[in-house]
Amino acid sequence: MSIPSHIQQLFKERFGRQPLVVRSPGRINLIGEHTDYNQGFVLPAATDKAVYVAMAPSEDGRCRWIAADFDNDEFTTDLTELRQSGRHWPDYLLGMVDQLRKRGHRIAPFNAVVSGDVPSGGGMSSSAALECATGWGLSELFGLGLDRLTLAKTAQQAENEFVGLRCGIMDMFASAHGRKGHAIRLDCRSLEYEYFPIDLQGYELVLFDTGVKHSLASSEYNTRRQECETGVAMLRQWEPNVQSLRDVTEEMLLRHQRQLDPMVFVRCLYVVQENARLLAACDDLQRNDLESFGQRMYGSHSGLRDMYEVSCAELDYLVSFTLTEKAVIGARMMGGGFGGCTINLIESAAVDDISERLDKAYKIAMGLDLKTYRVRIENGTEIL
Ligand code: GLA
Repeated sequence: MSIPSHIQQLFKERFGRQPLVVRSPGRINLIGEHTDYNQGFVLPAATDKAVYVAMAPSEDGRCRWIAADFDNDEFTTDLTELRQSGRHWPDYLLGMVDQLRKRGHRIAPFNAVVSGDVPSGGGMSSSAALECATGWGLSELFGLGLDRLTLAKTAQQAENEFVGLRCGIMDMFASAHGRKGHAIRLDCRSLEYEYFPIDLQGYELVLFDTGVKHSLASSEYNTRRQECETGVAMLRQWEPNVQSLRDVTEEMLLRHQRQLDPMVFVRCLYVVQENARLLAACDDLQRNDLESFGQRMYGSHSGLRDMYEVSCAELDYLVSFTLTEKAVIGARMMGGGFGGCTINLIESAAVDDISERLDKAYKIAMGLDLKTYRVRIENGTEIL
């Protein structure tokens, strides 16, 4: 049975009525990593892996939420006091209710059944997908009239303020705005965006999941943000027009290199170069030059590994393995880093063979099982 049918049925069994079913996808990011919170560019896309939420208003003043993928774990609340649940998954729903209320919306208690096939911990942002699905569903149930941009911003704030991760806007924006067959070039400063058709010409987008999520992921994420903010604050002493790393050029950085802490300098240089790489990669797409695009993916990985230092041995192993594979034209770590997936551009016909061999090699080198996800680019958040 499909996931939406399953949660619809479970909802009917538990609550005796027909729910609304919302789908919101996990995302990939083709290039442009750690640029979103620096007001730079990103190039994400929504995928066929998604979170689904079945929901309807409750009639007894109490919310009952059920996580179908966690043994039907149930959480109840009357929504009078909103604080962290101590159980992780309900926090994304609670965070959305909290933020929507802070924006002046009235949210009455509602029941929900949650499920999905976005690999959790794989760096495809299942949390952003859950937040967007919840917000879109609440907008429909209670007539809030949210638009997609407000949905994405509300979800980002829920994550920042309620869940406590200082992430940028890329994940939520991609989940909410995805379009089948297209990547989204988002300018994270102006929030202007453009859809780029992705013509894969016999190649496929494949994710290799390291199966690890190192515990330093979120602390190091916040440290990187801090290092970039320090860089901006320093540069502003000499370059008063600099508001973010978006306003910084390589030449400007080199001019002030000796005045900057060496680590701050190299972090900032990575971000400036990654923005330039992304813009060049979009030109590649427009010229249908996938090979050149793939080379820039490798360039992005090297920068993330050597300059931004957010990769790890498992991710580096998976990327290095592809260097000698003719059928792979691009690979890099994807998302925040320290685990999760790599994203690869692989000739369709060779995907099975490569992932089988990589699985064996990865087991020997790292003692871990490899998971492979072939992803398709699909539409963003929708009511089914
Ligand atoms: C995580 C965050 C995003 C973004 C990426 C790195 O996925 O949630 O906002 O910063 O890391 O590009």
